Amino acid sequence: MTTPANYRGYRVMTLPGDGVGPEIVAAARRVLDAAGQRYGYLLAYEEGVMGGCAIDAFGTPMEAGLIERCQKCDAVLLGAVGGPKWDTTDPDKPRPEQGLLGMRKGLELFANLRPVRSFKALAHNSTLKPEVIDGVDMLVVRELTGGVYFGKSERTADTAYDTMIYSEAEVERLVEYAFTVAEGRRKLVHSVDKANVLESSRLWRAVAIRVAERHPNVELRHMLVDNCAMQFIRDPKQFDVIATENLFGDVLSDEAAMLTGSIGMLPSASVGASGVSLYEPIHGSAPDIAGKGLANPCATILSAAMMLDLSFGEREAARAVERAVETALEQGARTADIAAFGETKLGTAEMTDAILAALAAG
Ligand code: IPM
Ligand code: MG
Repeated sequence: MTTPANYRGYRVMTLPGDGVGPEIVAAARRVLDAAGQRYGYLLAYEEGVMGGCAIDAFGTPMEAGLIERCQKCDAVLLGAVGGPKWDTTDPDKPRPEQGLLGMRKGLELFANLRPVRSFKALAHNSTLKPEVIDGVDMLVVRELTGGVYFGKSERTADTAYDTMIYSEAEVERLVEYAFTVAEGRRKLVHSVDKANVLESSRLWRAVAIRVAERHPNVELRHMLVDNCAMQFIRDPKQFDVIATENLFGDVLSDEAAMLTGSIGMLPSASVGASGVSLYEPIHGSAPDIAGKGLANPCATILSAAMMLDLSFGEREAARAVERAVETALEQGARTADIAAFGETKLGTAEMTDAILAALAAG
């Protein structure tokens, strides 16, 4: 029996952010702590201010020194940032998203992992036919610190431009990561680009071909991004690992979320060279339901499970949390976003209670 004295300890920086962020991070902490008692680890939390809340408090999208504080932690757990309160088309005004982008760049989180698995219990909640989505198991590996998100951009009186720029080294480390992950999966990588139009995509494709030569047991397929968007809906089961650049990955991963029934279900991990990874749900701050206790905590709880696995090596606890979410769904626990007509809708805290009960029973 593990006693508290020999619990393994990890330090987690939480960044609740805006909108539903604080509610879903609180829910994830309850599950993380419960799993810790059971599996013998103890988490120490710090809290940082990033997003619109940081703009309100400090006038900048991230409190000073936050990246350095994150680097001293073992992992970062983020809720969500942004909201209409800070929406502006004025290029000189700070935006909440700049905090997140600065954090990704500052921690060198070059690969964003977005696993997309269909949940049996939710097969009928998707807008797609159950037979199309049943058994979907893919992983979007999105480049996160380059491309048009970080290229030179400018706005003049009546024009504006953004630059999609990639170096070979940036592409190579991302595609290499995707191939390495694919080795442990079904050994298929779709490299998604727009090589029929974009020069940066032709560089991407050339590098992907070179990386593939180092992984002869993994199959490489090229796919144009417009076709990929269509194939996700037509036959999502054809995909295993998808390697793509920043903006394509942003768009495709929201689309892929609907294969699971709700964007409220999808976790993500952002990993990189610094060793400190960041975990966050892929959905946003949902300002329309913020503060009402209605948000679906599943994506954040599943992101916390990814943290247990990838950052702490607590595999058993990670699997137990994932199983608990599945069990709660199978037992009929639903937040409003995943409830079918006539099903009882639980709030954030009740949904978390259902997951905690499944964890305790599992
Ligand atoms: C995401 C989000 C962010 C992005 C926003 C909030 C800047 O949409 O993580 O997918 O575009 O990367
Ligand atoms: Mg997005």
